[in-house]
Amino acid sequence: MLGDKKVLFSGMQATGSLTLGNYLGALKNWVSLSDEYECFYSVVDMHSITVRQDPAELRKRARSLLTLYIAAGLDPEKNCIYYQSHVSGHAELAWILNCFTYMGELNRMTQFKDKAARHADNINAGLYTYPVLMAADILLYQADVVPVGKDQLQHLEITRDIAQRFNAVYGDVFTIPEPYIGSVGAKIMSLQNPAKKMSKSDENPNASIYLTDDKDTVIRKCKRAVTDSEAVIAYRQEQPGIRNLIDIYCACTGRTPEETVKEFAGRGYGEFKLAVGEAVADVLQPLQTRFEELSKDKAYIDGIIKRNAEKAGYCAAKTLRKVQKKIGFPERVR
Ligand code: TRP
Repeated sequence: MLGDKKVLFSGMQATGSLTLGNYLGALKNWVSLSDEYECFYSVVDMHSITVRQDPAELRKRARSLLTLYIAAGLDPEKNCIYYQSHVSGHAELAWILNCFTYMGELNRMTQFKDKAARHADNINAGLYTYPVLMAADILLYQADVVPVGKDQLQHLEITRDIAQRFNAVYGDVFTIPEPYIGSVGAKIMSLQNPAKKMSKSDENPNASIYLTDDKDTVIRKCKRAVTDSEAVIAYRQEQPGIRNLIDIYCACTGRTPEETVKEFAGRGYGEFKLAVGEAVADVLQPLQTRFEELSKDKAYIDGIIKRNAEKAGYCAAKTLRKVQKKIGFPERVR
């Protein structure tokens, strides 16, 4: 707890362009959590270098992502929006937690196995200990809840194990975090393969709608979305493509699947796809406008970066000092 609110921590990597899936599945819900929790939203640039990055590109994307957090509606006065690399406590705690993590545990991480297979020429130790850095992110702020997608649940589980192991030796140092499974958080699938999640790392640009796509592009991608030959707009497992488009439409308009099915009864896929595209464009347009405005205001964004790094640093230092003391590092001489 920080004050009388529970603490929430989450982060995103600044690699790839954010998709509609990231927005509807995560970012949009983050906004609704700011009142209830003391929120920390990090741009986790340290995680990004586990795969090789172009320096200029990484810096640019990190700033875009931070700006996008704000454009999406996260109030930077209420939410601590900051760069992970600006708070050295992440790296310091990660080292300590490395010494409380077993190789056997890390060997079981499915994301490591996947990434190692995809980047066979660069299976570095950072890729391997990625979950420990993530544990440090979360534990550093004594987070109570962590909104994450299903693909990150295993990392949250190992975070809890590490924290419990540490607490068992040194007393109640860390809050044990819980995953936050949102009540709505639409899961948006690929437009080209509705069995797969819409992903910013998909090689096919038609599979994902990017938050930066203009209206024409959005409509074109929706029109090309893979569907079926049933020729009825129904919300059922057997029509995953149409089902996904209904989910997107509902997430953008606030309607329910039942209402949507009724609205489009007897109408063709072409017409429905166009309506989906327009609904998506209507959601993205204000976000893009705000993003452009914010991007021009360098001084404003710089101020947020500075203030929030200080705030995060202050909270991080409190936990870190406690941890260092518990494990027996000598006290600083003042
Ligand atoms: N690994 C997460 C992802 O790729 C990003 C992340 C890093 C994160 N640290 C975190 C998410 C801490 C939640 C909490 O999605």
